Amino acid sequence: MARDQTNFADGSELLSFSIDRGAPESIFRQLYGALRRLILDGIAPAGSRLPASRLVAERLGVSRASVVGVYEQLLAEGYLIGRQGAGTFVSPDMLEPLQRPPHRALARALAQASAPNRRPKPAARYAALAPDPAQFEAVPFNTGRCSLDEQTLATWRRLTAAALRRPDALWLGYGDPRGSPRLREALAHYLRASRGVQCEADQILILSGVQQAIDLVLKILIEPRDPVWIEDPTYPALHDALKAARARIVPVPVDDQGLVVANGVAASPLARAAYVTPSHQSPSGVVLSMARRLELLAWAREARAWIIEDDYDSEFRYAGRPIASLQGIDRGERVIYLGTFSKVVFPGLRLGYAVVPHELLQAMTAARHLTDRQAPAVTESVVADFIEQGHFEAHVRRMRATYRVARDQLAAALRAKLGCVLEVEVPDQGMRLLARLAPGWSDTALAKEAAARGLVLRPMSKLYLSAPPLQALLLGFTGYSLPALRAGVDRLAEVIGRRVR
Ligand SMILES: Cc1ncc(COP(=O)(O)O)c(C=O)c1O
Repeated sequence: MARDQTNFADGSELLSFSIDRGAPESIFRQLYGALRRLILDGIAPAGSRLPASRLVAERLGVSRASVVGVYEQLLAEGYLIGRQGAGTFVSPDMLEPLQRPPHRALARALAQASAPNRRPKPAARYAALAPDPAQFEAVPFNTGRCSLDEQTLATWRRLTAAALRRPDALWLGYGDPRGSPRLREALAHYLRASRGVQCEADQILILSGVQQAIDLVLKILIEPRDPVWIEDPTYPALHDALKAARARIVPVPVDDQGLVVANGVAASPLARAAYVTPSHQSPSGVVLSMARRLELLAWAREARAWIIEDDYDSEFRYAGRPIASLQGIDRGERVIYLGTFSKVVFPGLRLGYAVVPHELLQAMTAARHLTDRQAPAVTESVVADFIEQGHFEAHVRRMRATYRVARDQLAAALRAKLGCVLEVEVPDQGMRLLARLAPGWSDTALAKEAAARGLVLRPMSKLYLSAPPLQALLLGFTGYSLPALRAGVDRLAEVIGRRVR
């Protein structure tokens, strides 16, 4: 019960704290915090009477108005009650938990529960998938990093300032969850012309990236235990998203023509979906052959399965024109096409998109709305200008040239210094190269030793699920200056040299 006999009317016991006028917190915040703590800690128990505001003001050397303001706030929030003519009291509701009569139904349910551990299973599942912080480090040869040149930065500054000078009325309220109509139009035009995608603007959803697209696609397609084919070796963020969604993961091997469709059909003919990176398999770099493309599409049509095409880095092709999308040759609307600005511009932009078959469009739009409503409108506006005014294409051309030089210099340095241990494949596309290790070398052991010397190397063997793993390293070559890449090779040579000695 409330100990309502406690009376702090003279303030002596309660006001043992002081107010620090030099502190960054306002007097109001300090006084509010101190009184609230006294109530929550039970030092001023339920029912006790607080000193008059005038007395508090005198004792603490603050204005009476400040004290009245704090009392009013604590009254409004339910910590205090006022009794006409009698003063201000700690609310009788502020009972300590042990003083409350127990909820009988809860006590019964807890006694009957077989497992008293009430930790939510989804939290445990997600906690096990927490990312390794090393993957965010800006050191060679971490993957997923980009460069921005002065020209793009200057354009971006100018377009952002111009957009903010004429704010669009659409920014000031919630809008279509699919995103800005102008950016969707610009993207539809770009995707038809440059990626051979069949689409209209109304099928496009602007999202925060491929990862969000994957999340939404899994939300609308997958129930726990639904089978999904994934490429083996695989893209780990996709693998983890499938685990989080409790899908049944069906690894399908990748050979020199890409996904071995026949193996997928044999392992799980009625899979709900297949995730593929046809233009540039992640991580092996293989291009899905035309025969396999047609085989995959035919399977999806017959099985009424869905193909999730992740077209993440096609713009950076160094040998001829980019490979056209798989979606572009689909005659049955079975492909959900995903793209991103994370590679072609930079990941911090957090902008990507999905081209969604009409059958799934309403569900995907609703899932997007429930997840985070819509994309950031100011960014959408700047990116729409960037594309419409031709800066995007120019940016891609310049970056492609920059990245090609980085690729060649890294490959040359690795061959010159480490040719006896690493066999370097110079990729036709993308932002990282694959270096196979000589027999007897372990990619995970080497990555660990390199990490101690401030280098990030991705061991390829960790990306295999059931196919025999390749001992190789994935080295990102974009987002670093040429001297930084050369210094990274020197450091890697030291790590390897110690092993050889
Ligand atoms: C295979 C693949 N897909 C997509 C992405 C990009 O994801 P997001 O668009 O969410 O940044 C990456 C980034 O590393 C990737 O490797």
